[in-house]
Amino acid sequence: MIPVCRLEDLPAGDSVRLDITPPVAVFNADGELYAIDDTCSHQDASLSEGWLEGCLIECPLHAASFDLRTGKPACLPARRPVRTHQVYVEDGVIHVLVASDAGATGDGGTGAAEKGSAA
Ligand code: FES
Repeated sequence: MIPVCRLEDLPAGDSVRLDITPPVAVFNADGELYAIDDTCSHQDASLSEGWLEGCLIECPLHAASFDLRTGKPACLPARRPVRTHQVYVEDGVIHVLVASDAGATGDGGTGAAEKGSAA
């Protein structure tokens, strides 16, 4: 598990990028926490710099949207999903459990983002 930040440091509508390899983006979508690969599957844009609307993150480069719950693209030009990762809150600190490449199936990975409570 990788510590991300304190829960209060990631308010609703905000995101943070983990500089690991490959990078991971963590989002607070109206109080629910999600983590996905940060790099857009279309080209190399950083999804943590995109626009968050509900459970969709819009890529800042060509406006493909990804569903944070599944990692699947909701519209073109992206065709391939990004991996999703599990998110935990422990003692007020957000943690990410990065999905292993071996477990990735190409359908969004095995680590469906677990709900994190911002309460
Ligand atoms: S880089 Fe994300 S849609 Fe093109």
